[in-house]
Amino acid sequence: MSLKITVIGTGYLGATHAAAMAELGFEVLGLDVVPEKIAMLQRGEVPMYEPGLEDLLRKHVAGIEGSTGRLRFTMDFAEVGAFGDVHFVCVNTPQRHGEYAADMSYVDSAIASLAPHLPGPTLVVGKSTVPVGSADRLATYLAEHAPAGADAELAWNPEFLREGFAVGDTLHPDRIVVGVRSERAEKLLREVYATPVGEGTPFVVTDFPTAELVKTSANSFLATKISFINAMAEVCEAAGGDVVKLAEAIGYDDRIGRKFLRAGIGFGGGCLPKDIRAFLARAGELGADQALSFLREIDSINMRQRGQMVELAREALGGGSFLGKRVAVLGASFKPDSDDVRDSPALNVAGQIHLQGGQVTVYDPKGMGNARQVFPTLGYADSAVEAVRGADVVLHLTEWQEFRELDPAALGEVAATRLILDGRNALDPEVWRKAGWSFRAMGRPTA
Ligand code: UDX
Repeated sequence: MSLKITVIGTGYLGATHAAAMAELGFEVLGLDVVPEKIAMLQRGEVPMYEPGLEDLLRKHVAGIEGSTGRLRFTMDFAEVGAFGDVHFVCVNTPQRHGEYAADMSYVDSAIASLAPHLPGPTLVVGKSTVPVGSADRLATYLAEHAPAGADAELAWNPEFLREGFAVGDTLHPDRIVVGVRSERAEKLLREVYATPVGEGTPFVVTDFPTAELVKTSANSFLATKISFINAMAEVCEAAGGDVVKLAEAIGYDDRIGRKFLRAGIGFGGGCLPKDIRAFLARAGELGADQALSFLREIDSINMRQRGQMVELAREALGGGSFLGKRVAVLGASFKPDSDDVRDSPALNVAGQIHLQGGQVTVYDPKGMGNARQVFPTLGYADSAVEAVRGADVVLHLTEWQEFRELDPAALGEVAATRLILDGRNALDPEVWRKAGWSFRAMGRPTA
């Protein structure tokens, strides 16, 4: 008989994981403690913009016409305990307020709520990004608090999905990493992931600390690549070089690779910034802070990019104050194909200019709702053209496809000044310059 799977926490990671497990053929029960979220998911609706996720949910959520009915949702931990053979913990671990460390309270309370409902042999699998050492601590907690005792086993299985590609990344991951302490746990996880592994996805079996560290070190490496190229952009600016050509040229070396070398206003979102800070905090606790001291520099290069964009805008407007200047901002989400504005570089730049007296108007294809909530005092427009109308300068800060397809000539008709700054190095300078725009990008020659 096929395994029954539960997914605790139905945010980004959990909702996608639950739908993907149903797609792989398992009976799935998802749990969340927020009633509104459960009500939406039961209707087959997703609380965020993620391409393909709503279709996948609707294909499987019980009660939706034509669905397989394999996916249900609840708020009841007792039901989850009684239902599942394998329980995935997918709650988030945000940065603690005013600190670098990760907030483990959602993970801890998920495990504490689940433990009393585990009477027999079962496997609890952590997917959240946690400080190394958490799995060991949680395994001890489970053994002490579950009626099943040590038969309520723990495993750690980090998740590498990217927002905007969550469904594809979950169904066809480029690797599966499991930290296990028994053959039984490994066997169960091999059963869960039989389909992607059968299609060739590598399955890496390791211990708890290594599994936890794979996630934080992967994100640290990605952040390092981005800050590296942004540091090169600064040097290019100073020396009159072109960072886009430089990235292309070094990227042809297979050992370096071309991905994650797009210079600009840097990384944001709910993962990279908080993960490198939590990693630093944990290394400090372990007495290994010197080993990671470079990550402080990665973080500070990244944060500096935002300030540099603001200065570039000030300079382009003739220097001095932003007072009375109309600034169009294209992009609010932290990256394209996402409505997520958590720690968004685009919104941060828009906010800094607004707080310095600029009259900012933002447009984003999907992120407007979230942006309005986070930063209600900014101006918002319903389209790129409306944002640009009357603008003294246009800032391109999130590289949506829609912005690449803009017609510079038509925008030039509505802008007060044909002045555009590309904070993502994603627009073609020649096309804009031909249409009469003055075009500046980070780390690239002025003309
Ligand atoms: C990241 C990891 O990629 C993923 O594996 C992990 O599971 C979660 O964290 P995500 O936060 O969805 O995923 O975004 P990602 O695509 O990694 O982009 C992060 C940020 O880096 C974005 O703000 C993006 O604009 C920026 N970025 C990315 C650059 O500035 N330059 C690049 O070359 C690439």
